[in-house]
Amino acid sequence: MPVAIETGDARPDAFAVLVTQPPGDGVDARLADVAGTGELRGERGETLVLHLDGTRVVAAGVGPRDSVDEDALRTAAAAVAHALRRVGGTLHWQLEESLPVPAERQAAALVEGTVLGGYSPGRWKTDEDGPPREVTRIVLPRDVQAAAERAALLAERTNRARDLANMPPNELTPQTLAEHADALAAEHEHLTASALGPAEMDELGMGAITAVGRGSRNEPRLVVLRYDPPEAKDGLVLGLVGKSITFDAGGISLKPAAGMEAMKGDMAGGAGTLHGIGAVAALGLPVRAIAVLAAAENLPGGDAFRPGDILHAANGKTIEIINTDAEGRLVLADALWYARREGATHVLDLATLTGAMELALGDLYAGYFANDGAWSERVRAAGERSGDLLWPFPLHPRYRRYIDSAFADMKNGSTLRQGSPALAAEFLHEFAGEGPWAHVDMAGPGFLDRSRGDYLRVPGGTGFGVRLIAELAAGLA
Ligand code: BES
Ligand code: MN
Ligand code: ZN
Repeated sequence: MPVAIETGDARPDAFAVLVTQPPGDGVDARLADVAGTGELRGERGETLVLHLDGTRVVAAGVGPRDSVDEDALRTAAAAVAHALRRVGGTLHWQLEESLPVPAERQAAALVEGTVLGGYSPGRWKTDEDGPPREVTRIVLPRDVQAAAERAALLAERTNRARDLANMPPNELTPQTLAEHADALAAEHEHLTASALGPAEMDELGMGAITAVGRGSRNEPRLVVLRYDPPEAKDGLVLGLVGKSITFDAGGISLKPAAGMEAMKGDMAGGAGTLHGIGAVAALGLPVRAIAVLAAAENLPGGDAFRPGDILHAANGKTIEIINTDAEGRLVLADALWYARREGATHVLDLATLTGAMELALGDLYAGYFANDGAWSERVRAAGERSGDLLWPFPLHPRYRRYIDSAFADMKNGSTLRQGSPALAAEFLHEFAGEGPWAHVDMAGPGFLDRSRGDYLRVPGGTGFGVRLIAELAAGLA
């Protein structure tokens, strides 16, 4: 359930107040004394919980006034959720008129930060304390209610995507991911889910995704969600494609042991896609959409595909396997083809695709590639507005020769130790079909090895893509 947004004067468990740095004349009267002692400085992410005449007041630092942006507000709100982890309940947020962020955006950022910052990845801990207490209601002025409710919904969906990415690969398999899609579809009118198994994929000639899945006893699934609202605009179908490798051991081209556990997050693109289309449905946006999750487990089993194998993809093209660890582009190849076959006119794929993209951009921005200028700018702008940040990378036909194969139409890897994100994008380009397409390589921000020190607070799944997809779809409505 998303956090409830209240506008009445419900008696809250805590009042949260923003404090800029340094806490000057504008500081809330209740905090004037403590600001004077130097105990409260207004640094971004700083919190101080005070009990004043029976009311709990949380001071939340946002840093210097002029540099306050939505990121600072989310981070401050997340710190408040953390400070209140043994309290929870109803939180009253006070907006600050003098800040350079308009009231609606302030409210949205504070709600988002409170909900995202209250998330705990420790669901599998059995200690007696139990999970932290959540903020379940937020009190805000009436004129920002709609923006706050939208933010509450998106943050809750983002946390659901984080949950999926954090689920251990013994619990989240391609089949259980398909069951999550069924459960989501059951929540929403006009959203339906289905899944193809290996036999149905074979019938469609999907020799790429089925090959990747063959090394595991957990069979691959092509999970498909369709959102078909009656009032949708004609002629536009948003196609969302998510890499959903529930565990990437690398296959026969086995990965080193160190850090391999993080490869449970190799379905983060699919998680963002699933809860992205769920958010679009929950918001009731009048845009037709289809989500295709390419789900498989990449293990080195006795029936696993091998380097040297030549695969036949659904679009008729042949692929020589150089490295079974370059499995993401293979499952996406068939999924992209399927999304187009089902009528997608504008395609966005989300994938934790290359380690090199994480090296390039670190844990904050995802890199993206696009074959259409207008679509590229829409996608980038939706990222910027939503907080799922994107930075452009180039598609160019001269990269194509590095994936030429002597035996087949292309190969899935290259001995060239250069430009691996761009070569992967050129590979996908072969399957992207006609019409606008953007490929997001979210290897960095999809799953965090350590906290980023921002409003997500904790390592693990980030839910990247949920807010991006909702913002993009809203712009198409
Ligand atoms: N899932 C990985 C990419 C990845 C690495 C995501 C680190 C997140 C963090 C992907 O399947 C992979 O193994 N890519 C290889 C491709 C190479 C073999 C061509 C890579 O980038 O090393
Ligand atoms: Mn891999
Ligand atoms: Zn992978």
